[in-house]
Amino acid sequence: MKIAMIGAGYVGLVSGACFSDFGHDVVCIDISEDKIARLKRGEIPIYEPGLETLVETNARAGRLSFTTDLNAAVADADVVFIAVGTPSRRGDGHADLSYVYVAAADIARAVTGFTVIVTKSTVPVGTGDAVERIIADTNPDADCVVVSNPEFLREGAAIDDFKRPDRIVVGLEDDRARPVMEEVYRPLYLNQAPLMFTGRRTAELIKYAANGFLAMKITFINEIADLCEKAGGDVQAVARGIGLDNRIGAKFLNAGPGYGGSCFPKDTLALVKTGQDYEAPLRLIETTVAVNDTRKRAMGRKVIAACGGDVRGKTIGLLGLTFKPETDDMRDAPSIAIVQTLLDAGARVRAYDPEGMEMAKTVLDGVEYGADAYDVARGAECLVLVTEWNQFRSLDLDRVKSLLASPVLVDLRNVYRRAEVEKAGLAYISIGRSD
Ligand code: UGA
Repeated sequence: MKIAMIGAGYVGLVSGACFSDFGHDVVCIDISEDKIARLKRGEIPIYEPGLETLVETNARAGRLSFTTDLNAAVADADVVFIAVGTPSRRGDGHADLSYVYVAAADIARAVTGFTVIVTKSTVPVGTGDAVERIIADTNPDADCVVVSNPEFLREGAAIDDFKRPDRIVVGLEDDRARPVMEEVYRPLYLNQAPLMFTGRRTAELIKYAANGFLAMKITFINEIADLCEKAGGDVQAVARGIGLDNRIGAKFLNAGPGYGGSCFPKDTLALVKTGQDYEAPLRLIETTVAVNDTRKRAMGRKVIAACGGDVRGKTIGLLGLTFKPETDDMRDAPSIAIVQTLLDAGARVRAYDPEGMEMAKTVLDGVEYGADAYDVARGAECLVLVTEWNQFRSLDLDRVKSLLASPVLVDLRNVYRRAEVEKAGLAYISIGRSD
């Protein structure tokens, strides 16, 4: 299969590399000359474990290439994926579809022969219909079918998620696309990964419903954590106790500082807007968005409380800034609100993140950076574990204690056990664990 992937961002790059690894002939297209030039040199613009090797191997084998020439790549392709960004539109929270629509018109002008156009970007219900209209209006002779094939990758585990998916969802209105999509996903299909065919609008809704549900699940356990703190209880045991019920499931029940990232915050907001547009309000998601927003600043206040209520002039050490480990992504990271709350209260903030500091410097003002976890602990009033990178899971707590000005560890990811921290002489504050 000849595949053109429009957009060499996170989803496009990972999907393009994985499809080429399946043996397809893949061209990734981007408007950024600089990005394409770097990719041609083998430089990967994002941090994603395993991606560099995957790109290098397949590029060397001649199955994966990069270009800014959309026309040539699309003309040659059997399948064209649209994997451009759909950020929140300024002002109203709707998904901004302008890049998708531009791509659709570009494809229509370039396409030759029967071609399957696939939206992989996260797009609201009805976008496939709009793409189809744009293609027909731009080039009435184009022989295209439009398919929705949403992506369920997690940053940091994207390649594994792509190669071992729980399911592949394909939404189509024209059966001619079906054998083509079966061929695209053949290696997974042969491996018994459920390939689910639905209507196009249903596929678009599945993506938002999945992210909305997961965001709600996290928010639910976060509220239970607050209750555990007040009423006495251990949220991890509660999560295990409910998660063993297969109807609930054990995953995504880790209480923490609130969800962040490039997907949940933007997708929940867009889902709320879609519900309002169709006069089918999604109140649970509306509440999820509000509760999660409040929670991030509340985490800053939790740190201030751990320091006795006043952090003016005091140094607070933060471990981890990215929205989760194994990524350099700072988008909507809880650390942003936490840092702001601490700075507003007059604290000095010193931070360290294994991969995110470069990106953090473009997002956070007034933060100093340390060389590692111990450097951040030195002279700090309190050490706060914000993102659960592996290297923060087994800190030398005696050393941490000796470096801190005042021995307090705030663990917003419940990585440590109270007994081991207290044994090292540190006061320990975690999430939803009163014991
Ligand atoms: C999420 C979904 O998990 C993917 O299935 C989806 O494809 C992707 O969005 C997307 O729409 O593109 P991602 O944002 O990479 O993936 O990261 P997650 O691992 O889902 O974590 C999101 C946030 O939830 C993080 O801030 C994480 O710390 C938080 N989280 C997650 C918790 O606080 N507790 C949990 O139990 C799980």
